[in-house]
Amino acid sequence: CRIVVLISGSGSNLQAFIDTLHARQADIVAVISNRADAFGLERAARAGIPGAVLDHREFADRATYDQALAALIDTHAPDLVILAGFMRILTSEFVQHYQGRLLNIHPSLLPKYTGLHTHRRALEAGDREHGATVHFVTEELDGGPAIMQSHVPVLADDTPDTLAARVRDTEHRLYPLAAMLYVSGRLRLEDGQACLDGTP
Ligand code: GRF
Repeated sequence: CRIVVLISGSGSNLQAFIDTLHARQADIVAVISNRADAFGLERAARAGIPGAVLDHREFADRATYDQALAALIDTHAPDLVILAGFMRILTSEFVQHYQGRLLNIHPSLLPKYTGLHTHRRALEAGDREHGATVHFVTEELDGGPAIMQSHVPVLADDTPDTLAARVRDTEHRLYPLAAMLYVSGRLRLEDGQACLDGTP
């Protein structure tokens, strides 16, 4: 299975993929960032994975960028495309092109808190628990069918940062696990639903 990972920043989720499934169940054949200073590119280089930068500021609009991005991704002929902190909204054309083979992780218990600042919003709402969701990407922002979620408690003295760190630790187990299910052929998008073999 050939995987392309898209990042914009630290790439700690990318690192989890490198540590758990790369060169075992699957090959991460490329890491693409829209930012040249993304630390994840360094992680890719250390693992011997080709990295590329496609800077959105060099494109006239979102549609043109997404076309170039898809063209670049497709040179690697991936079976699966993983969004790992790729901080861009994608066009419908892009999403449709990768329908059923595009995954994202979002740091909230979706459908709660789509978009940004999820940890702060969970704290402000007084939530007792919080977490992360891996989902298939559809045209609705953070709205695609959920595959699996991690749950963490919200503690009395949490700040957005401490809560984010607790959630992120779970992401690093959750996301590779979901990807492994996909790689092994047990997980697919069917009739707009995440379908996992072995469940009713
Ligand atoms: C994670 O919090 C993830 O849920 C969100 O972006 C962040 C990426 O972090 N989509 P990292 O770059 O993988 O460290």
